[in-house]
Amino acid sequence: TQTFGHPLCTFLIINLIAIFCFLSYTKYSSSSVSPLSCSSHPEPSSQPSLLENRISKSTEELLILLWTWPFGEQFPLGGCDKLFNTPDCSFTLDRSKYSMADAVIVHHRDNCGSRQSLPQQPRPFYQRWVWFNLESPNNSPNLDFMNNLFNLTVSYRVDSDIFSPYACLKFRKEQKNYTIPKKSKLVAWAVSNWNPNSVRVKYYQELKKYINIDVYGRQHAKLSSSDTSSVISQYKFYLAFENSLHTDYITEKLWRNSFTSGTVPVVIGPPRENYEKFVPSDSFIHINDFKSSEELAKHLKFLDQNEEEYMKYFAWRKYTEIQFSGWETHYCRACQFLRENKFYRTVKNLRNWYIS
Ligand SMILES: *[C@@H]1O[C@H](CO)[C@@H](O)[C@H](O)[C@H]1NC(C)=O
Ligand SMILES: *[C@@H]1O[C@H](CO)[C@@H](O)[C@H](O)[C@H]1NC(C)=O
Repeated sequence: TQTFGHPLCTFLIINLIAIFCFLSYTKYSSSSVSPLSCSSHPEPSSQPSLLENRISKSTEELLILLWTWPFGEQFPLGGCDKLFNTPDCSFTLDRSKYSMADAVIVHHRDNCGSRQSLPQQPRPFYQRWVWFNLESPNNSPNLDFMNNLFNLTVSYRVDSDIFSPYACLKFRKEQKNYTIPKKSKLVAWAVSNWNPNSVRVKYYQELKKYINIDVYGRQHAKLSSSDTSSVISQYKFYLAFENSLHTDYITEKLWRNSFTSGTVPVVIGPPRENYEKFVPSDSFIHINDFKSSEELAKHLKFLDQNEEEYMKYFAWRKYTEIQFSGWETHYCRACQFLRENKFYRTVKNLRNWYIS
């Protein structure tokens, strides 16, 4: 009681601190659901560390063999210590090191042609095979070849062993003002894969009856990838329509084309609740928020005329930063997980899990 004088004074000060904390908290969590941040990786299943005391190779760095580059794209490997502030792994593409590798990472699309594309030599007892895929189930052929072969999965799905999204949000404590790019146009959509029977093209055909939409892409107005951001940023809204609808499948259409360009995304994809797992509820417009495309068009036109309402879609930016995952990020997430979790496991029905 010496420090604050009278005990009542201490009591009041403690109360003031509590009220202040409560107010800051409610201010910060104004949107009811808090999305996953970059640092919140779902807990791995707790299993005994059966590989921990294998005879050899217990202390040195993990050696990870990339069976192929993903889509043939090369990039500097390693550097996980800098990326995640955890010990690095050694990565190699040299298949002659197969029998020494602690883990083999197989990128689905480059190796799903047949079982022959996968390693053929016997597998050392401690070696873990890691299945890596960021494509939607529709774009992932021959999933059943992969049943009962792998020990771990890396994908955009939150329930993967190693959850590795396209991008994630980093939350800041201090506010930072976000400058909305100058707007002169209303709605844009960039689409390369035009399938007239897809949900998104059908929805577009309806929506365009009520509002003007500028379409870019292979069969539409030209848009080079270097201009994409500067062109799209002039629009108030961007149609971030996924090509197929799957749990957690939220791609660069939202993260890059829309958020990075500083437009408000109108999304077609998994349900709103699924988006809210990753991004704030007030950062996007979901088509299911409206009874019809006509109602959606009305809302977009209303926002076009109401600056203050439109700006509300940018409020979250004060506290957040978008962090993209490069190829190396996905491999480093695998490195980190492999180092920290050592147990035996088999992914039995990989196909049924991935398409569910
Ligand atoms: C952000 O904008 C507000 C209002 O325009 C201004 O008062 C404040 O100083 C700005 N903060 C920063 C960090 O620029
Ligand atoms: C990995 O999965 C294979 C195939 O089911 C299994 O035989 C092997 O014991 C597993 N290894 C580890 C380290 O979990």
